[in-house]
Formats: sequence, structure tokens, C-alpha cells
Amino acid sequence: MALLTILTWPDPRLKTVAAPVRKFDARLATLAADMAQTMYAAPGIGLAATQVNVHERLVVIDISEQKNDLRILVNPEIIWKSEAKFIYEEGCLSVPEIYDEIERAEQIKVRAQDVKGEFYTFDAEGLLAVCVQHELDHLLGKVFVEYLSPLKQSRIKTKLKKKIARGDLQTVR
Ligand code: NI
Repeated sequence: MALLTILTWPDPRLKTVAAPVRKFDARLATLAADMAQTMYAAPGIGLAATQVNVHERLVVIDISEQKNDLRILVNPEIIWKSEAKFIYEEGCLSVPEIYDEIERAEQIKVRAQDVKGEFYTFDAEGLLAVCVQHELDHLLGKVFVEYLSPLKQSRIKTKLKKKIARGDLQTVR
């Protein structure tokens, strides 16, 4: 297994729209395992392939405290969203140390494949629903801060640049 380099916003590669996964082979299983290791090491609760510069519809998520509930979502689709909304203070491994409130659907139903290509569905609410919606946005080239006002976005860019200049953030792992 290997730790992968996480792109930092506003890297233009984060805007890439991911393509569907077609081959359920050893390469895919290794990529998913490397992404999980990278997520746990960061540490984070979700990581999309887009963030490690692989533009395929693959996401890993683990919101458990014990870090023992890994979900691998290949070609995930949200097939239902509640009208009810949920506001959560989100963060992102591609926007280090920045948190802000984002409104999303409170409950969703998700259809995905596992690394072998088997389809499965699950219901998610609260934090898990937030996390799935956040990661699926990455696959469409969207980062959570892009829901914020242009002023907030430019302030975040300035903060990140300063941190990188000071050496507080590693841009390459
Ligand atoms: Ni993110």
C-alpha cells in the first residue's frame, strides 16, 4: 500500500469530472486500499479519487470513531434525496484547516458498486449523508468551499497561500 498525494484547492485538477469505473480489477482494489490508507493517515473521514488526481468515480468513506467501518463506493449515485435539509460545518483534505457550514439533504439513498462490481444500496442520514454528498461533488469537480461567497473563497485562497508559504502545509506528501 502507498500514501497518495492529495491535491490542494484551488488546484485546477480538482475541477476534473470523473469517468465511470469500467474495469473491476486488481488495480482498482489497490487504488481503493491506497486511498483508504491516505484518508486514515490524513486523518479524514472521506476521500474521492479526484483528490489524488485519479479521475474515476471512486470514493472511500469511514465516519466511525474506531475507523473500522470503511465504505468503498465505486460509480456511486444518489438515487433519492430528502426535502429536509441539514447544515453541517464541513472540512476537506483538499482545503486544510478550513471549515464552514454547508446545507445539504438530510437523508439520501445511494446506489454504488463494490471493488468487484457488485451493486449495493444504502440509506444515509446526518454526517454520513453529508460525507457522501461532499465526496460525490468532488467526482463532479466541485469542492465544498465553492458553495461559499466569492469573498469567502478569496479569503480562503489567501489563507492557504500564506500557510503554504510559511511551510505550515505540505503541498506534496
Ligand atoms: Ni473533500
